[in-house]
Amino acid sequence: MIALIDIEALRNNSLAWLQRGEAEHYELSREERRKEMTWYNEQVQKYDADMKWALYCYPNKTEYLERAIKFLELNEDDVLLDIGAGDGRLSLMAIQQFNIKQAIAIEWCDKWVQATNEYVSEHGGFPENMTYKQGTYQDFEFPESVTKCVFLAHHNGEITKLNILKKLSRTNCTLFVHNFMKQGELIGEVLKHGKR
Ligand SMILES: C[S@@+](CC[C@H](N)C(=O)[O-])C[C@H]1O[C@@H](n2cnc3c(N)ncnc32)[C@H](O)[C@@H]1O
Repeated sequence: MIALIDIEALRNNSLAWLQRGEAEHYELSREERRKEMTWYNEQVQKYDADMKWALYCYPNKTEYLERAIKFLELNEDDVLLDIGAGDGRLSLMAIQQFNIKQAIAIEWCDKWVQATNEYVSEHGGFPENMTYKQGTYQDFEFPESVTKCVFLAHHNGEITKLNILKKLSRTNCTLFVHNFMKQGELIGEVLKHGKR
């Protein structure tokens, strides 16, 4: 199976989408902007009450993802759950570079998911062993088959991370990478409870 999407091109599409979004954002009147921020804060409180930055959307640089993916030590038997996946590039890289069995990418931001889906469907579609869904981690049952999980939203609160860990403990997940930024810093939690 060949994954056709060019990773950098996908990022460029996401950046173009973001720039359009920002332009629209700053052209809003003060009143409209206030309404938008109130709505945004309500959503954030609903999904991650302990961290206001939680739903901040921005595509990471591809080199950043290259660094992140190393910590996952992926192989052909892995089923990767990518939470806060943005445009799903990390999942695509996992399939293209490590030939993993399956990738499940979840992204909350509906506008970003829509822009990505439009772009990807015009460029051959995602590989068959990748699913890309809109929603928060609370919206989905994590399949038991998940072996590794990544959450590249280091600005999220600890409560969110603990909730994700709780859900992962009911799967076959052995590694949860949520922070890999500084040398020597904790890069993730190896799950010691659950089925093993
Ligand atoms: C800094 S961005 C990283 C995006 C992407 N992983 C990348 O590397 O380009 C963090 C993403 O996590 C998403 N996110 C935050 N909390 C989430 C949650 N509870 N469920 C699903 N997505 C979430 C945000 O919408 C945002 O797009």
